[in-house]
Amino acid sequence: MTQNNLAIIVLAAGQGTRMKSRRPKVLHEIGGRPLVGHVLTTARALEAAHIEVVVRHERDQVVSVLAEQYPEAVIVDQDDIPGTGRAVQVALDALPADFDGDVLVLSGDVPLLEADTLRALLDAHRTASAAATLLSAHLDDPTGYGRVIRNADGIVERIIEQKDASPDEAAVTEINAGVYVFRAPLLRTHLGRIDQNNAQGELYLTDVIGLLRAAAEPVAAQLAPDVASTFGVNDRAQLAEAGRVLNQRIVRRWQREGVTVVDPATTWIDDDAVLAPDVTILPNTHILRATVIASGATVGPDTSLVDCEIGEDAVVRRTDAQLAVIGAGATVGPFSFLRPGTVLGAGGKIGAYVETKNAQIGEGSKVPHLSYVGDATIGRGVNLGAGTITANYDDVNKHRTEIGDEVHTGSHTVLVAPVRLGAGAKTGAGAVVRKDVPAGALAMSVAPQRNIEGWVEKNRAGTGAADAAARARSAE
Ligand code: UD1
Ligand code: CA
Repeated sequence: MTQNNLAIIVLAAGQGTRMKSRRPKVLHEIGGRPLVGHVLTTARALEAAHIEVVVRHERDQVVSVLAEQYPEAVIVDQDDIPGTGRAVQVALDALPADFDGDVLVLSGDVPLLEADTLRALLDAHRTASAAATLLSAHLDDPTGYGRVIRNADGIVERIIEQKDASPDEAAVTEINAGVYVFRAPLLRTHLGRIDQNNAQGELYLTDVIGLLRAAAEPVAAQLAPDVASTFGVNDRAQLAEAGRVLNQRIVRRWQREGVTVVDPATTWIDDDAVLAPDVTILPNTHILRATVIASGATVGPDTSLVDCEIGEDAVVRRTDAQLAVIGAGATVGPFSFLRPGTVLGAGGKIGAYVETKNAQIGEGSKVPHLSYVGDATIGRGVNLGAGTITANYDDVNKHRTEIGDEVHTGSHTVLVAPVRLGAGAKTGAGAVVRKDVPAGALAMSVAPQRNIEGWVEKNRAGTGAADAAARARSAE
């Protein structure tokens, strides 16, 4: 149910200088989703009446991702006055003027927060009737974060940024996670009073905490239940660390659901992937984007699946696949490359050194060795001999190959598309098939073999081959 007294502001306008990237920081991804996407996914769960995202740096890139995936978020543009305080000012101005509920401020670069942590923060804030409640954590290494400064009675007094901190203040290990709830009217008043007199010349949102306390307003800090949930991503090392923590959580989640993950450290599962009980994941395996794996399937080792659908009891090993659908009980690999549009029927096989693209392969059909199958429709019970190739491209256009049920091709058949092979047809080894083959016909295109007796001894006298041939003939 929508919480009419709750507005969420997500800060995503910063430049992210420390990433040293062309891409805006909040669009860097972990678990297959941009940092800001994780924040918005969590925010969405709170059912706030308003969700605003403040943008500025590379705003068009950020906005296009948000518009597609989080259309409910209202975009607010920050002007050229820098700082988190300015970002919240412009966001507040964009809320209805009479909004007097709670404002939850989230940072677009703090991706590991969970909705339950935010619910607990809101509860604590409301129970204590606080003016502001911030999320804090004790970090072994607090470098880079704002520090929570408490007075002798342990009451929060203010937040000091790393760059403005004295050595004593910098020694404090309780950090500000950049996540806060404020009562809207008090936030409005005190945001109007912050200034840019600090090391970075910015309007700091964090200064509001000190101002509220100076006005004798109650401010509380709530320790995060899980330190990792407060991790902020400012550089690539922190990006990798956040990605690792997220992956660990996702792996645990699937293990609890009955998935065997042999080596969690080398198994990467994106947030959107879905795995059924009794799936087994072998080491060095990446299960990415919206991949779905059905019960009993075994995937890996050394496999990467992007947006794939793997059927029950299928086995996929040492394979690179994208947008492929693998039927129940089918086997894939080792060393298979499945490109978008590959559909393998139940019980089918795509074997070693096979590349497929835009290919529908029917139930029980096999492409076991060394083949390229592109732009093809293949019926049931088909066997493509080793090295069968669909020649689908004539340098200008792509053409389709259609293969009926129970067709068997000889090794090294080249199917020059567009071409059709009727049900039950066969091709001879090495056939180059340029014309349609009727159902039940055998297509041969290789000239009959001719043996020229004694050719080697006559033309290659003195070679090992000639000597071996002579020995073999004398033994006959
Ligand atoms: C901020 C906090 C710090 C806290 C840390 C937690 C301030 C002044 N400091 O520091 O106390 O420990 O987060 O991770 O708030 N942003 C804007 N507009 C701007 C500047 C930043 O929207 O003008 C956004 C950024 O895109 C980012 C977030 O605000 O998502 C935080 O900004 P960042 O520059 O990373 O602040 P920190 O130095 O990490
Ligand atoms: Ca940050």
